[in-house]
Amino acid sequence: MSMTADYLELSDVRVEFDGFRAVDGVSLTVLQGDLRFLIGPNGAGKTTLVDAITGLARAAGSIRFGRTELLGRKAHRIARLGVGRTFQTASVFEDLSVLQNLDIAAGAERGPVTMLRARGRTPERIDETLETVGLTAHRDLKAGTLSHGQKQWLEIGMLLVRDARVLLLDEPVAGMSGEERTRTGELLRRVGADRTVVVVEHDMDFMRSFADSVTVLHAGSVLSEGSVAEVQSDPRVQEVYLGTAPTDAANDSDEAVA
Ligand SMILES: Nc1ncnc2c1ncn2[C@@H]1O[C@H](COP(=O)(O)OP(=O)(O)O)[C@@H](O)[C@H]1O
Ligand SMILES: [Mg+2]
Repeated sequence: MSMTADYLELSDVRVEFDGFRAVDGVSLTVLQGDLRFLIGPNGAGKTTLVDAITGLARAAGSIRFGRTELLGRKAHRIARLGVGRTFQTASVFEDLSVLQNLDIAAGAERGPVTMLRARGRTPERIDETLETVGLTAHRDLKAGTLSHGQKQWLEIGMLLVRDARVLLLDEPVAGMSGEERTRTGELLRRVGADRTVVVVEHDMDFMRSFADSVTVLHAGSVLSEGSVAEVQSDPRVQEVYLGTAPTDAANDSDEAVA
């Protein structure tokens, strides 16, 4: 175990698609234990930024996990360095049990034969993870039968059994019930205490309840950053989120800051 806290440091990160700058010079630092929310309107570049960090989008600039430069490495290498992410749509193996999903994630480093071997007992880390994500009672159920929320927890569990040190979660509570949201927030606070966690989020109530710090992205750039209170009182943030008439019924209600 390292004696110093982990951190993720982005400097002047840029991603272009055919000349269009989806991410346009983003610099930010996220410290271990500081539950960071990354918010911003649709198309702000949030998912593209996560793609850049995880090696799925080609980027310029610098993205470091501690002293290790991630930029330019292949996605599987970045994952192996302990940087994990979830996707907006859960990507669990629906026909396999919860336990088998965790087992495969834990064995992703091993060869296919050892990975699929029959096991008498559950390794400690998998038991612990089942507890952490609240799926112990569901361990033998097919993942496909889980609720949307439980699938997201399983995905987070799949990162934990691989000992991910950085977790990048893309809209984890989208489509969740109120109770599932609260449980997810509590889970994120637990896992975020000794990991570096970035939560991409659209839901402002959820952000207000659980964020330690917030970065607001707009048109590919950082518009504002600070505590929830600081970001909410920033006139530039209010303009972006409330710029359209609040009376506009078509306006997505969960985009309202106040
Ligand atoms: N593969 C791609 N090719 C071209 N444009 C893309 C691609 N992925 C995303 N974009 C564009 O980049 C911008 C940022 O998208 P995205 O990162 O998905 O935003 P967010 O996650 O904040 O809603 C959008 O304008 C989107 O249309
Ligand atoms: Mg997105």
